[in-house]
Amino acid sequence: MQNYFQTLLEQAKQEIGEVEEISSTQLEALRVKYLGKKGALSQGLAQMGKLAAEARKQVGAVANQVKAEVEALLTSAMERAEELALEASLRVPKVDISLPGRLRPQGHCHPVSQTMDDIVDIFIGMGFEVADGPEVELDWYNFEALNFLENHPARDMQDSFYVHPEGFAEDARPMVLRTHTSPVQVRTMQAQPPPLRAIMPGRVYRRDFDITHTPMFHQVEGLFVDANVSMADLKGTLNAFLRAFFGQEVKTRFRASYFPFTEPSAEVDISCVICKGAGCRVCKMSGWLEILGAGMVHPNVLLASGYNPQEVTGFAFGMGVERTAMLRYGIGDLRSLFENDIRFLARF
Ligand code: PHE
Repeated sequence: MQNYFQTLLEQAKQEIGEVEEISSTQLEALRVKYLGKKGALSQGLAQMGKLAAEARKQVGAVANQVKAEVEALLTSAMERAEELALEASLRVPKVDISLPGRLRPQGHCHPVSQTMDDIVDIFIGMGFEVADGPEVELDWYNFEALNFLENHPARDMQDSFYVHPEGFAEDARPMVLRTHTSPVQVRTMQAQPPPLRAIMPGRVYRRDFDITHTPMFHQVEGLFVDANVSMADLKGTLNAFLRAFFGQEVKTRFRASYFPFTEPSAEVDISCVICKGAGCRVCKMSGWLEILGAGMVHPNVLLASGYNPQEVTGFAFGMGVERTAMLRYGIGDLRSLFENDIRFLARF
């Protein structure tokens, strides 16, 4: 009987050690063969009933010993098999970890939005609040309340887009795609009492199309109304803004001008950002670039908005965002901002 188990062990040693690249399935089959319920070891143990008590004890000890050894053999062979499998899988690389990653195209803010956000941010830093109004506007807000005379050329069909919204009375005045952000001044004043500091970015529409004009463009409007607001406040605020936006070294110049809704009115120039004032193609050799329209809010506008011009005064200004973006980024043709050519937009 002892021989039976000894032989069993020898056989197992041989079989388990035999196969070079032993696989875990093969090992499992061998485990069943030797240690399974109907395996060689169990069969041997079943025979032991026939032995005398003393012999059974001896043979039993040998059987236990053999069982432990076969188990140990299988375990270490199994470990080895797993190691081999891992090594084999590493020898055949399925993933080349040295390949560069696949870059997903990443978008970013359009230069017009970026410029507009930066302008608005500077004014927020000076205590202004953001306000907005509709793009399809009543004639009253776009012109009338802003002190435009009935026959002002801006009201001409040649210059402005008019629309007849559905449901409007046939004889009602057509509405207008707002030609500037100034109507938002009136809407904002109507909505709240003074004092008021507001910045109003948005889209505006005019019948224009050439290298410096598109039918839709963006403006940022500013309005400051309080007791005793003066032209000096206007100059100080705009100087601070223009230096924050274009750099501390920029020079500014206020020229007398005319707008129906401001009195006095001014156009604001900055020293040319391209040639620093020496004279170049962009500033048409003048050394200056026009950047803003501004002025003291006309008393008629305050009245139309429900403010009392005896109690408060205000200044207002408006600037074109595309023009500002062109100067900031050195863009030659304004229309390229709206062609949505990725190669162009990716430059910013
Ligand atoms: N609305 C004027 C324009 O479109 C700009 C402006 C705004 C001028 C406010 C003065 C005050 O040209």
